[in-house]
Amino acid sequence: MIFRILQLISALVTSALVSAHGFVQQVTIDGIVYQGNNLNVATPAPSIIRLDAQFASLSGNVNPGSQVQCLWVGGTDGSSNWSHDTGPLIHYMAMCEGSCSTYNSTNAEWFKISELGLEADGITWYQAALDSRAPVNVTIPSTIAPGEYLLRSEIISLQNAVTEGGAEFYPCCVQLNVGGDQTQGPTSSEVCTFPGCYSDTDPGILTPNIDNPPIQYIFPGPPVASFANTNPSSSVPSLTPTAPSSIPTESVSSSSGAHLSTTLSRTSAGGVYNTILFFTFFISNFL
Ligand SMILES: *[C@@H]1O[C@H](CO)[C@@H](O)[C@H](O)[C@H]1NC(C)=O
Ligand SMILES: *[C@@H]1O[C@H](CO)[C@@H](O)[C@H](O)[C@H]1NC(C)=O
Ligand SMILES: *[C@@H]1O[C@H](CO)[C@@H](O)[C@H](O)[C@H]1NC(C)=O
Repeated sequence: MIFRILQLISALVTSALVSAHGFVQQVTIDGIVYQGNNLNVATPAPSIIRLDAQFASLSGNVNPGSQVQCLWVGGTDGSSNWSHDTGPLIHYMAMCEGSCSTYNSTNAEWFKISELGLEADGITWYQAALDSRAPVNVTIPSTIAPGEYLLRSEIISLQNAVTEGGAEFYPCCVQLNVGGDQTQGPTSSEVCTFPGCYSDTDPGILTPNIDNPPIQYIFPGPPVASFANTNPSSSVPSLTPTAPSSIPTESVSSSSGAHLSTTLSRTSAGGVYNTILFFTFFISNFL
């Protein structure tokens, strides 16, 4: 019974947190903009961006090598900017079994395609650029096999991660339809599930030295899948457009914050404990 109540609190807190911190408002694929829905809309418009962990109805056409930009904004309607500046930006993909519009990602096999941490100065996080509305940039692997995939754009905010349970996870899922005739994908040792990819005590999640730069940051989760990492600069934003073999014509939808509760429960045996810390954090910062 108590657990059930905590679960309910967890659900409430999760939605409050998502509302308070932000979401992906739009996705740009090779220069073409696909709108998502604000968190406060009663009836979401068709989109490629998943909202509140629900399926989206559309998938955005991409090609191997496509440039994807996710615009994270603050609040429930994007009237404020993203507000955190400490911690990594990580992107995963997972193949949908069939159409992403009906694909439940509970058992999805996620593989990492990029991770961005500290800039060259060893002090400034790429995440800080989001506070002035820079999008997060990611390149679709240039040899990825065709099919429908989820793209998970994840921000981890570490300003409270000096103690266990203090890291905050903001995942958003975008539904993509990858074209082309490439053949590659991850190996079985390069995939993980959410929950499961992280634990509360991973070096990049429990970060006691986060406030004492310069630090050597160790990314959590599996390594970037080797097929996605053939270009040595693939872990930094590639701004050189790779000419797509065709112009994407469909709209892309992303889901913002949809998987937050999943993330919380997966990050630890102490998911409820996490939730309470989050709740405390929320109360102290947003009420
Ligand atoms: C996916 O499956 C899980 C576990 O059965 C369920 O809790 C969740 O609501 C499902 N998600 C959607 C979007 O249907
Ligand atoms: C939000 O981002 C815009 C665009 O970069 C910038 O002009 C504005 O000053 C930012 N707002 C705050 C509060 O930082
Ligand atoms: C993404 O690329 C744009 C240029 O297209 C750049 O201004 C922005 O800072 C990049 N985002 C991050 C988080 O580095």
